[in-house]
Amino acid sequence: MSQNTFQTHHGMVDILPEESGKWHYLEALIRETAREFHFGEIRTPVLEPTELIARGIGQLTDIVSKEMFSFSRGETNYVLRPECTAPVARAYVQHHLDQKGGAQKLFYIGPMFRAERPQKGRQRQFHQFGAELIGTDAPIADVEIIRFMMRIYEKIGLTKTTLMINSVGDPESRADYRNALQEYFRPNLNNLSDISRQRFEANPMRILDSKEEEDQPFIENAPLITDYLNEACSRHYAHVKQYLTDSGIPFVENPRLVRGLDYYTQTAFELISSDLGSQDALGGGGRYDLLIEEIGGRPTPAVGFACGMERLMIACEALGIPLGEAPSLDVYIVCRGEGAQRWAMDRITDIRKQGLSCTMDFSGKSIKAQLKDANRQNSRFAIIVGDSELEQQKFTFRNMQESTEEALPFDEIVGKLNSAFDK
Ligand code: HAM
Repeated sequence: MSQNTFQTHHGMVDILPEESGKWHYLEALIRETAREFHFGEIRTPVLEPTELIARGIGQLTDIVSKEMFSFSRGETNYVLRPECTAPVARAYVQHHLDQKGGAQKLFYIGPMFRAERPQKGRQRQFHQFGAELIGTDAPIADVEIIRFMMRIYEKIGLTKTTLMINSVGDPESRADYRNALQEYFRPNLNNLSDISRQRFEANPMRILDSKEEEDQPFIENAPLITDYLNEACSRHYAHVKQYLTDSGIPFVENPRLVRGLDYYTQTAFELISSDLGSQDALGGGGRYDLLIEEIGGRPTPAVGFACGMERLMIACEALGIPLGEAPSLDVYIVCRGEGAQRWAMDRITDIRKQGLSCTMDFSGKSIKAQLKDANRQNSRFAIIVGDSELEQQKFTFRNMQESTEEALPFDEIVGKLNSAFDK
Protein backbone atom coordinates (compact mmCIF):
# COMPACT_ATOMS: atom_id res chain seq x y z
CA MET A 1 0.00 0.00 0.00
CA SER A 2 1.29 3.47 -0.83
CA GLN A 3 2.72 5.37 2.11
CA ASN A 4 0.39 8.22 1.25
CA THR A 5 -2.83 6.45 2.21
CA PHE A 6 -4.45 7.05 5.58
CA GLN A 7 -5.45 4.52 8.20
CA THR A 8 -7.60 4.77 11.30
CA HIS A 9 -5.71 5.48 14.51
CA HIS A 10 -4.47 2.45 16.44
CA GLY A 11 -7.37 0.94 18.40
CA MET A 12 -10.07 2.70 16.38
CA VAL A 13 -12.10 0.79 13.82
CA ASP A 14 -14.45 1.45 10.93
CA ILE A 15 -17.79 -0.32 10.99
CA LEU A 16 -18.54 -1.29 7.39
CA PRO A 17 -22.03 -1.99 5.95
CA GLU A 18 -21.64 -5.80 6.31
CA GLU A 19 -21.17 -5.26 10.05
CA SER A 20 -23.63 -2.46 10.66
CA GLY A 21 -26.62 -4.83 10.43
CA LYS A 22 -25.45 -6.41 13.72
CA TRP A 23 -25.23 -2.98 15.32
CA HIS A 24 -28.76 -2.08 14.20
CA TYR A 25 -30.05 -5.38 15.55
CA LEU A 26 -28.36 -4.92 18.94
CA GLU A 27 -29.27 -1.27 19.27
CA ALA A 28 -32.93 -2.04 18.47
CA LEU A 29 -32.93 -4.87 21.04
CA ILE A 30 -31.40 -2.60 23.71
CA ARG A 31 -33.88 0.22 22.96
CA GLU A 32 -36.81 -2.20 23.08
CA THR A 33 -35.60 -3.58 26.44
CA ALA A 34 -35.18 -0.01 27.74
CA ARG A 35 -38.79 0.67 26.71
CA GLU A 36 -39.95 -2.42 28.61
CA PHE A 37 -38.04 -1.26 31.72
CA HIS A 38 -39.26 2.32 31.13
CA PHE A 39 -35.84 3.98 30.88
CA GLY A 40 -35.60 7.11 28.68
CA GLU A 41 -32.68 7.62 26.31
CA ILE A 42 -30.14 10.35 27.10
CA ARG A 43 -27.55 11.53 24.55
CA THR A 44 -24.71 13.59 25.93
CA PRO A 45 -21.81 15.21 24.00
CA VAL A 46 -18.68 13.15 23.38
CA LEU A 47 -16.58 16.06 24.68
CA GLU A 48 -16.87 16.85 28.38
CA PRO A 49 -15.00 19.16 30.78
CA THR A 50 -11.76 17.43 31.83
CA GLU A 51 -12.35 18.44 35.44
CA LEU A 52 -15.72 16.61 35.50
CA ILE A 53 -14.12 13.34 34.44
CA ALA A 54 -11.05 13.74 36.66
CA ARG A 55 -13.13 14.50 39.76
CA GLY A 56 -15.89 12.07 38.92
CA ILE A 57 -13.80 9.01 38.09
CA GLY A 58 -10.84 9.76 40.38
CA GLN A 59 -7.34 11.18 39.77
CA LEU A 60 -5.60 7.93 40.69
CA THR A 61 -7.55 5.67 38.36
CA ASP A 62 -5.85 4.34 35.22
CA ILE A 63 -8.47 6.10 33.12
CA VAL A 64 -7.74 9.57 34.48
CA SER A 65 -4.02 9.20 35.13
CA LYS A 66 -3.04 7.80 31.72
CA GLU A 67 -5.90 6.98 29.37
CA MET A 68 -7.67 10.24 28.65
CA PHE A 69 -7.78 11.80 25.20
CA SER A 70 -7.73 15.41 26.27
CA PHE A 71 -6.85 18.76 24.76
CA SER A 72 -7.40 22.42 25.38
CA ARG A 73 -8.59 25.29 23.25
CA GLY A 74 -7.96 28.64 24.80
CA GLU A 75 -8.89 28.43 28.45
CA THR A 76 -11.15 25.41 28.06
CA ASN A 77 -10.07 21.81 28.75
CA TYR A 78 -11.87 19.09 26.84
CA VAL A 79 -11.80 15.33 27.20
CA LEU A 80 -13.29 12.70 24.94
CA ARG A 81 -15.61 10.92 27.36
CA PRO A 82 -14.08 7.64 28.62
CA GLU A 83 -17.45 6.54 30.07
CA CYS A 84 -20.92 7.97 30.48
CA THR A 85 -21.81 7.86 34.18
CA ALA A 86 -20.09 11.14 35.09
CA PRO A 87 -21.59 12.85 31.98
CA VAL A 88 -25.09 11.59 32.86
CA ALA A 89 -24.59 12.78 36.45
CA ARG A 90 -23.52 16.17 35.06
CA ALA A 91 -26.64 16.33 32.89
CA TYR A 92 -28.80 15.37 35.91
CA VAL A 93 -27.42 18.33 37.88
CA GLN A 94 -27.31 20.76 34.92
CA HIS A 95 -30.94 20.16 33.93
CA HIS A 96 -32.29 19.90 37.51
CA LEU A 97 -33.66 16.46 36.77
CA ASP A 98 -34.13 15.98 40.53
CA GLN A 99 -37.07 18.40 40.26
CA LYS A 100 -38.92 16.14 37.85
CA GLY A 101 -40.10 14.04 40.77
CA GLY A 102 -39.18 10.46 41.52
CA ALA A 103 -36.08 8.58 40.48
CA GLN A 104 -34.72 9.26 36.99
CA LYS A 105 -34.21 6.24 34.75
CA LEU A 106 -31.85 6.97 31.88
CA PHE A 107 -30.09 4.79 29.30
CA TYR A 108 -27.52 5.47 26.59
CA ILE A 109 -25.69 3.87 23.69
CA GLY A 110 -22.61 5.50 22.23
CA PRO A 111 -18.87 5.72 21.66
CA MET A 112 -16.38 6.09 24.53
CA PHE A 113 -12.64 6.77 24.32
CA ARG A 114 -9.77 5.41 26.37
CA ALA A 115 -6.11 5.51 25.34
CA GLU A 116 -5.50 1.91 26.43
CA ARG A 117 -3.12 -0.54 24.79
CA PRO A 118 -5.30 -2.07 22.07
CA GLN A 119 -5.85 -5.82 21.99
CA LYS A 120 -8.75 -8.15 21.27
CA GLY A 121 -11.76 -6.73 23.09
CA ARG A 122 -9.92 -3.56 24.00
CA GLN A 123 -10.13 -0.55 21.72
CA ARG A 124 -9.40 3.13 22.04
CA GLN A 125 -12.78 4.04 20.63
CA PHE A 126 -15.37 1.51 21.74
CA HIS A 127 -19.10 1.55 22.34
CA GLN A 128 -21.09 1.10 25.49
CA PHE A 129 -24.72 0.70 26.28
CA GLY A 130 -25.65 1.50 29.83
CA ALA A 131 -28.27 2.75 32.23
CA GLU A 132 -28.40 4.90 35.34
CA LEU A 133 -31.14 4.93 37.99
CA ILE A 134 -30.69 8.19 39.90
CA GLY A 135 -32.41 9.36 43.07
CA THR A 136 -32.92 6.23 45.19
CA ASP A 137 -30.77 4.31 47.65
CA ALA A 138 -33.08 1.28 47.78
CA PRO A 139 -31.34 -2.08 47.25
CA ILE A 140 -34.21 -3.01 44.95
CA ALA A 141 -32.95 -0.33 42.53
CA ASP A 142 -29.55 -2.10 42.36
CA VAL A 143 -31.39 -5.28 41.44
CA GLU A 144 -33.57 -3.51 38.86
CA ILE A 145 -30.38 -2.25 37.15
CA ILE A 146 -28.88 -5.75 37.16
CA ARG A 147 -32.15 -7.22 35.86
CA PHE A 148 -32.15 -4.71 33.00
CA MET A 149 -28.56 -5.64 32.07
CA MET A 150 -29.19 -9.40 32.35
CA ARG A 151 -32.42 -9.21 30.33
CA ILE A 152 -30.50 -7.84 27.34
CA TYR A 153 -28.10 -10.80 27.36
CA GLU A 154 -30.97 -13.21 27.92
CA LYS A 155 -32.82 -11.87 24.85
CA ILE A 156 -29.69 -12.16 22.74
CA GLY A 157 -29.25 -15.74 23.94
CA LEU A 158 -25.89 -15.07 25.60
CA THR A 159 -26.50 -16.83 28.88
CA LYS A 160 -23.05 -18.39 29.38
CA THR A 161 -22.00 -15.59 31.73
CA THR A 162 -21.10 -15.12 35.38
CA LEU A 163 -22.39 -12.23 37.46
CA MET A 164 -19.89 -11.30 40.17
CA ILE A 165 -20.94 -9.01 42.98
CA ASN A 166 -19.37 -7.29 45.95
CA SER A 167 -19.97 -4.41 48.32
CA VAL A 168 -17.21 -1.80 48.42
CA GLY A 169 -18.80 -0.13 51.46
CA ASP A 170 -19.54 3.48 52.35
CA PRO A 171 -17.03 6.12 53.58
CA GLU A 172 -17.39 4.95 57.20
CA SER A 173 -16.71 1.28 56.40
CA ARG A 174 -14.00 2.28 54.01
CA ALA A 175 -12.14 4.37 56.62
CA ASP A 176 -11.72 1.25 58.77
CA TYR A 177 -10.85 -0.86 55.76
CA ARG A 178 -8.34 1.69 54.52
CA ASN A 179 -6.53 1.56 57.90
CA ALA A 180 -6.53 -2.23 57.79
CA LEU A 181 -5.12 -2.22 54.25
CA GLN A 182 -2.39 0.26 55.11
CA GLU A 183 -1.45 -1.75 58.15
CA TYR A 184 -1.31 -4.88 56.03
CA PHE A 185 0.68 -3.40 53.11
CA ARG A 186 3.06 -1.22 55.19
CA PRO A 187 5.65 -3.94 56.04
CA ASN A 188 5.90 -4.80 52.32
CA LEU A 189 5.73 -1.31 50.93
CA ASN A 190 9.19 -1.57 49.38
CA ASN A 191 8.24 -4.75 47.54
CA LEU A 192 5.18 -3.21 45.88
CA SER A 193 5.19 -1.69 42.39
CA ASP A 194 5.81 2.04 41.97
CA ILE A 195 2.19 2.66 41.11
CA SER A 196 0.94 0.78 44.17
CA ARG A 197 3.35 2.69 46.43
CA GLN A 198 1.87 5.91 45.04
CA ARG A 199 -1.61 4.62 45.80
CA PHE A 200 -0.72 3.53 49.33
CA GLU A 201 -1.36 6.94 50.92
CA ALA A 202 -4.01 8.40 48.64
CA ASN A 203 -6.19 5.36 48.02
CA PRO A 204 -4.90 1.96 49.15
CA MET A 205 -8.03 0.20 47.78
CA ARG A 206 -6.70 0.95 44.29
CA ILE A 207 -3.74 -1.36 45.07
CA LEU A 208 -6.21 -4.25 44.92
CA ASP A 209 -6.94 -3.30 41.30
CA SER A 210 -3.24 -3.46 40.32
CA LYS A 211 -2.30 -5.64 37.37
CA GLU A 212 1.44 -5.53 38.25
CA GLU A 213 2.90 -8.99 38.81
CA GLU A 214 5.00 -8.09 41.86
CA ASP A 215 1.85 -6.88 43.68
CA GLN A 216 -0.14 -10.07 43.23
CA PRO A 217 1.21 -12.17 46.16
CA PHE A 218 0.45 -9.31 48.56
CA ILE A 219 -2.98 -8.62 47.09
CA GLU A 220 -3.90 -12.28 47.43
CA ASN A 221 -3.81 -12.23 51.23
CA ALA A 222 -5.01 -8.67 51.77
CA PRO A 223 -7.92 -8.08 54.16
CA LEU A 224 -11.38 -8.22 52.59
CA ILE A 225 -13.77 -5.25 52.49
CA THR A 226 -16.68 -7.50 53.39
CA ASP A 227 -15.14 -8.00 56.86
CA TYR A 228 -15.23 -4.22 57.43
CA LEU A 229 -18.75 -3.33 56.28
CA ASN A 230 -20.80 -1.43 58.85
CA GLU A 231 -24.32 -2.48 59.68
CA ALA A 232 -26.06 -0.33 57.07
CA CYS A 233 -23.79 -1.58 54.26
CA SER A 234 -24.10 -5.21 55.37
CA ARG A 235 -27.87 -4.87 55.42
CA HIS A 236 -27.96 -3.26 51.98
CA TYR A 237 -25.70 -5.97 50.56
CA ALA A 238 -27.80 -8.73 52.15
CA HIS A 239 -30.95 -7.26 50.58
CA VAL A 240 -29.35 -7.05 47.14
CA LYS A 241 -28.34 -10.71 47.34
CA GLN A 242 -31.80 -11.72 48.56
CA TYR A 243 -33.58 -9.82 45.74
CA LEU A 244 -31.21 -11.27 43.15
CA THR A 245 -32.03 -14.74 44.41
CA ASP A 246 -35.75 -13.91 44.39
CA SER A 247 -35.36 -12.71 40.77
CA GLY A 248 -33.76 -16.01 39.79
CA ILE A 249 -30.45 -14.33 38.87
CA PRO A 250 -27.47 -16.49 39.82
CA PHE A 251 -24.41 -14.61 41.13
CA VAL A 252 -21.00 -15.27 42.62
CA GLU A 253 -19.75 -13.16 45.50
CA ASN A 254 -16.26 -11.86 44.90
CA PRO A 255 -14.95 -9.87 47.88
CA ARG A 256 -11.88 -8.89 45.79
CA LEU A 257 -13.92 -7.18 43.10
CA VAL A 258 -12.68 -3.61 42.90
CA ARG A 259 -13.90 -1.60 39.94
CA GLY A 260 -11.58 0.60 37.88
CA LEU A 261 -13.46 3.80 38.74
CA ASP A 262 -13.38 5.51 42.14
CA TYR A 263 -16.98 6.63 42.44
CA TYR A 264 -18.46 3.35 43.65
CA THR A 265 -20.06 2.90 47.06
CA GLN A 266 -21.68 -0.30 48.33
CA THR A 267 -22.86 -2.55 45.47
CA ALA A 268 -20.32 -3.28 42.71
CA PHE A 269 -20.78 -5.93 40.04
CA GLU A 270 -19.27 -7.31 36.85
CA LEU A 271 -20.62 -9.63 34.19
CA ILE A 272 -17.91 -12.00 32.96
CA SER A 273 -17.75 -14.26 29.92
CA SER A 274 -15.21 -17.05 29.61
CA ASP A 275 -15.52 -16.71 25.81
CA LEU A 276 -13.75 -13.34 25.75
CA GLY A 277 -10.11 -14.21 26.51
CA SER A 278 -8.17 -11.86 28.78
CA GLN A 279 -10.61 -8.94 28.43
CA ASP A 280 -13.34 -11.00 30.05
CA ALA A 281 -15.71 -8.30 31.37
CA LEU A 282 -18.84 -7.92 29.28
CA GLY A 283 -20.02 -5.16 31.55
CA GLY A 284 -20.01 -3.76 35.02
CA GLY A 285 -21.48 -1.21 37.32
CA GLY A 286 -22.66 -0.46 40.79
CA ARG A 287 -23.87 2.17 43.18
CA TYR A 288 -22.31 5.63 43.26
CA ASP A 289 -24.07 7.52 46.05
CA LEU A 290 -21.46 10.28 46.37
CA LEU A 291 -20.70 11.13 42.72
CA ILE A 292 -23.43 13.70 42.19
CA GLU A 293 -22.43 15.65 45.29
CA GLU A 294 -18.77 15.33 44.27
CA ILE A 295 -19.50 17.11 40.98
CA GLY A 296 -21.51 19.91 42.58
CA GLY A 297 -25.05 18.56 42.92
CA ARG A 298 -27.12 17.83 46.01
CA PRO A 299 -26.41 14.47 47.72
CA THR A 300 -28.20 11.99 45.44
CA PRO A 301 -27.86 8.21 45.56
CA ALA A 302 -27.66 6.38 42.23
CA VAL A 303 -26.82 3.06 40.62
CA GLY A 304 -26.01 2.00 37.05
CA PHE A 305 -24.29 -0.34 34.62
CA ALA A 306 -22.45 -0.14 31.31
CA CYS A 307 -21.47 -2.90 28.87
CA GLY A 308 -19.16 -3.07 25.86
CA MET A 309 -20.88 -3.56 22.51
CA GLU A 310 -17.74 -4.93 20.82
CA ARG A 311 -17.16 -7.46 23.61
CA LEU A 312 -20.76 -8.58 23.36
CA MET A 313 -20.25 -9.18 19.64
CA ILE A 314 -16.99 -11.09 20.20
CA ALA A 315 -18.69 -13.39 22.74
CA CYS A 316 -21.64 -13.99 20.38
CA GLU A 317 -19.30 -14.84 17.53
CA ALA A 318 -17.33 -17.28 19.72
CA LEU A 319 -20.59 -19.01 20.67
CA GLY A 320 -22.11 -18.93 17.17
CA ILE A 321 -25.01 -16.71 18.26
CA PRO A 322 -26.36 -14.84 15.21
CA LEU A 323 -27.00 -11.12 15.58
CA GLY A 324 -29.83 -10.34 13.19
CA GLU A 325 -29.91 -11.16 9.51
CA ALA A 326 -27.33 -10.06 6.93
CA PRO A 327 -28.69 -7.02 5.07
CA SER A 328 -30.24 -8.09 1.78
CA LEU A 329 -31.50 -6.38 -1.36
CA ASP A 330 -35.08 -6.84 -2.62
CA VAL A 331 -34.80 -5.76 -6.26
CA TYR A 332 -32.01 -4.96 -8.73
CA ILE A 333 -32.92 -3.31 -12.04
CA VAL A 334 -30.63 -4.52 -14.82
CA CYS A 335 -30.52 -2.02 -17.74
CA ARG A 336 -29.31 -2.37 -21.32
CA GLY A 337 -28.85 1.10 -22.89
CA GLU A 338 -29.62 4.69 -22.01
CA GLY A 339 -33.38 4.50 -22.58
CA ALA A 340 -33.57 1.59 -20.14
CA GLN A 341 -31.59 3.55 -17.57
CA ARG A 342 -33.99 6.49 -17.81
CA TRP A 343 -36.94 4.11 -17.41
CA ALA A 344 -35.24 2.54 -14.39
CA MET A 345 -34.61 5.91 -12.74
CA ASP A 346 -38.39 6.53 -12.80
CA ARG A 347 -39.54 3.06 -11.79
CA ILE A 348 -36.99 2.64 -9.01
CA THR A 349 -38.90 5.33 -7.09
CA ASP A 350 -42.20 3.46 -7.52
CA ILE A 351 -40.61 0.30 -6.13
CA ARG A 352 -39.00 2.12 -3.20
CA LYS A 353 -42.36 3.74 -2.39
CA GLN A 354 -43.66 0.21 -1.74
CA GLY A 355 -41.10 0.06 1.09
CA LEU A 356 -38.78 -2.27 -0.85
CA SER A 357 -35.04 -1.82 -1.25
CA CYS A 358 -34.06 -1.35 -4.85
CA THR A 359 -30.89 -0.42 -6.71
CA MET A 360 -29.46 -0.46 -10.24
CA ASP A 361 -26.12 -0.18 -11.96
CA PHE A 362 -24.65 3.31 -12.13
CA SER A 363 -21.50 2.60 -14.10
CA GLY A 364 -22.65 1.15 -17.46
CA LYS A 365 -21.70 -2.50 -16.86
CA SER A 366 -22.66 -5.32 -19.24
CA ILE A 367 -25.89 -7.24 -18.55
CA LYS A 368 -23.86 -10.23 -17.41
CA ALA A 369 -21.84 -8.10 -15.01
CA GLN A 370 -25.02 -6.45 -13.68
CA LEU A 371 -26.60 -9.85 -12.99
CA LYS A 372 -23.43 -10.92 -11.24
CA ASP A 373 -23.60 -7.74 -9.17
CA ALA A 374 -27.25 -8.49 -8.28
CA ASN A 375 -26.18 -11.97 -7.16
CA ARG A 376 -23.29 -10.64 -5.11
CA GLN A 377 -25.64 -8.21 -3.37
CA ASN A 378 -27.94 -11.08 -2.55
CA SER A 379 -30.87 -9.54 -4.43
CA ARG A 380 -34.07 -11.59 -4.32
CA PHE A 381 -35.39 -10.30 -7.66
CA ALA A 382 -34.08 -8.58 -10.78
CA ILE A 383 -35.97 -6.67 -13.45
CA ILE A 384 -34.19 -6.76 -16.80
CA VAL A 385 -34.86 -3.89 -19.24
CA GLY A 386 -33.59 -3.22 -22.78
CA ASP A 387 -34.96 -1.59 -25.94
CA SER A 388 -37.19 -4.53 -26.93
CA GLU A 389 -38.69 -4.73 -23.40
CA LEU A 390 -39.40 -0.99 -23.53
CA GLU A 391 -41.06 -1.36 -26.94
CA GLN A 392 -43.33 -4.17 -25.76
CA GLN A 393 -43.76 -2.71 -22.26
CA LYS A 394 -43.05 -6.16 -20.88
CA PHE A 395 -40.01 -6.58 -18.65
CA THR A 396 -38.11 -9.65 -17.59
CA PHE A 397 -38.89 -10.37 -13.95
CA ARG A 398 -36.28 -12.74 -12.57
CA ASN A 399 -36.43 -14.64 -9.30
CA MET A 400 -32.72 -14.74 -8.51
CA GLN A 401 -32.89 -17.55 -5.96
CA GLU A 402 -34.95 -19.89 -8.15
CA SER A 403 -33.41 -18.71 -11.48
CA THR A 404 -36.89 -18.41 -13.07
CA GLU A 405 -38.00 -15.62 -15.40
CA GLU A 406 -41.24 -14.30 -16.90
CA ALA A 407 -42.06 -11.29 -19.11
CA LEU A 408 -44.60 -9.00 -17.41
CA PRO A 409 -45.95 -5.43 -17.54
CA PHE A 410 -44.52 -3.22 -14.78
CA ASP A 411 -47.83 -3.07 -12.81
CA GLU A 412 -47.91 -6.85 -12.58
CA ILE A 413 -44.29 -6.91 -11.44
CA VAL A 414 -45.17 -4.51 -8.60
CA GLY A 415 -48.13 -6.75 -7.67
CA LYS A 416 -45.87 -9.81 -7.58
CA LEU A 417 -43.27 -7.97 -5.51
CA ASN A 418 -45.92 -6.87 -3.05
CA SER A 419 -47.19 -10.37 -2.54
CA ALA A 420 -43.65 -11.82 -2.33
CA PHE A 421 -42.76 -9.35 0.44
CA ASP A 422 -46.17 -9.45 2.09
CA LYS A 423 -46.79 -5.73 1.53
P1 HAM B 1 -16.29 0.01 32.97
O1 HAM B 1 -16.15 -1.28 33.71
O2 HAM B 1 -15.11 0.89 32.91
O3 HAM B 1 -17.52 0.75 33.65
O4 HAM B 1 -16.77 -0.27 31.49
C1 HAM B 1 -17.92 -1.06 31.23
C2 HAM B 1 -17.66 -2.00 30.07
O5 HAM B 1 -17.23 -1.27 28.91
C3 HAM B 1 -16.55 -3.01 30.30
O6 HAM B 1 -17.01 -4.11 31.05
C4 HAM B 1 -16.22 -3.42 28.86
O7 HAM B 1 -17.15 -4.36 28.37
C5 HAM B 1 -16.39 -2.11 28.12
N1 HAM B 1 -15.08 -1.48 27.91
C6 HAM B 1 -14.39 -0.71 28.76
N2 HAM B 1 -13.22 -0.31 28.22
C7 HAM B 1 -13.18 -0.85 26.98
C8 HAM B 1 -12.23 -0.80 25.90
N3 HAM B 1 -11.10 -0.10 25.99
N4 HAM B 1 -12.52 -1.48 24.76
C9 HAM B 1 -13.67 -2.18 24.65
N5 HAM B 1 -14.60 -2.25 25.63
C10 HAM B 1 -14.36 -1.60 26.78
C11 HAM B 1 -17.97 1.98 33.26
O8 HAM B 1 -17.65 2.54 32.24
C12 HAM B 1 -19.01 2.56 34.21
N6 HAM B 1 -19.44 3.86 33.67
C13 HAM B 1 -20.18 1.62 34.39
C14 HAM B 1 -21.23 2.18 35.27
C15 HAM B 1 -22.40 2.74 34.88
N7 HAM B 1 -21.18 2.26 36.59
C16 HAM B 1 -22.28 2.84 37.04
N8 HAM B 1 -23.02 3.16 36.00
